Amino acid sequence: MTGIRPLVAGNWKMNGLGSSLSELESLRARLETAPVPETNIMVCPPATLLSRAREAIKDSTIMLGAQDCNPLASGAHTGDISAEMLADAGATSVIVGHSERRHDHHESDALVHAKALAAYRAGMMAIICIGETEAQYREGKTLDVLRGQLEGSVPEGARAANTVVAYEPVWAIGTGLTPTPPEVAQVHGLIRSVLGQMLGDSEAGAMRLLYGGSVKPSNAANLLFVPDVNGALVGGASLKAEDFYEILSVYAGTQS
Ligand code: 13P
Repeated sequence: MTGIRPLVAGNWKMNGLGSSLSELESLRARLETAPVPETNIMVCPPATLLSRAREAIKDSTIMLGAQDCNPLASGAHTGDISAEMLADAGATSVIVGHSERRHDHHESDALVHAKALAAYRAGMMAIICIGETEAQYREGKTLDVLRGQLEGSVPEGARAANTVVAYEPVWAIGTGLTPTPPEVAQVHGLIRSVLGQMLGDSEAGAMRLLYGGSVKPSNAANLLFVPDVNGALVGGASLKAEDFYEILSVYAGTQS
């Protein structure tokens, strides 16, 4: 192993009602009977469930994350939620720059950068997402696109302790398609080297790089043991405790 503690985070996206908290309770019970040591486990439910989720996972090893934040701390921004509000509701991390937000809300790298700074300001970890579209992948532009997103989205103050970078190829999200393990290894190697140029080798070397996009129980072991992959950002398969546990349990017994 690399010495980096892996992180497996579940992004519930716009899914989940009060009744879904039973999945958190099942996950918690599962982890109490069969813990997966030295692995960080996080659930990112919609903002409406954060406070209730905090209660459901209280005193467990499960961490709580949010899915987005406004870059400002407060003000006249109807419908938006600041990083401070998310922290107040119990989140210790926030996903920023998810491709669905980049697409649905036309979020730019500059905005994602500002959101990551907002996460730091509120004392939270930023999970910064990057990823190429299918057209960019087909045109062989993946590495250039990712370099641009990293340079535009990752703040200078990013450190291994406050930042996680998630590589999520847009064409792999919710499609059942994934890059091959050698492709993931190449991309994650590039991400680490670009981060090294930006932040210095020691921070970049310790930073967790997650893979996301159609991670399932059936492919988790193939994708998560690729060099430079330090965990996963899981969408659909995180909604069911059983599937999510199966994914994260690939790390059971692997730590020294
Ligand atoms: P899926 O696991 O459903 O493909 O979603 C991945 C994702 O976007 C996680 O943020």
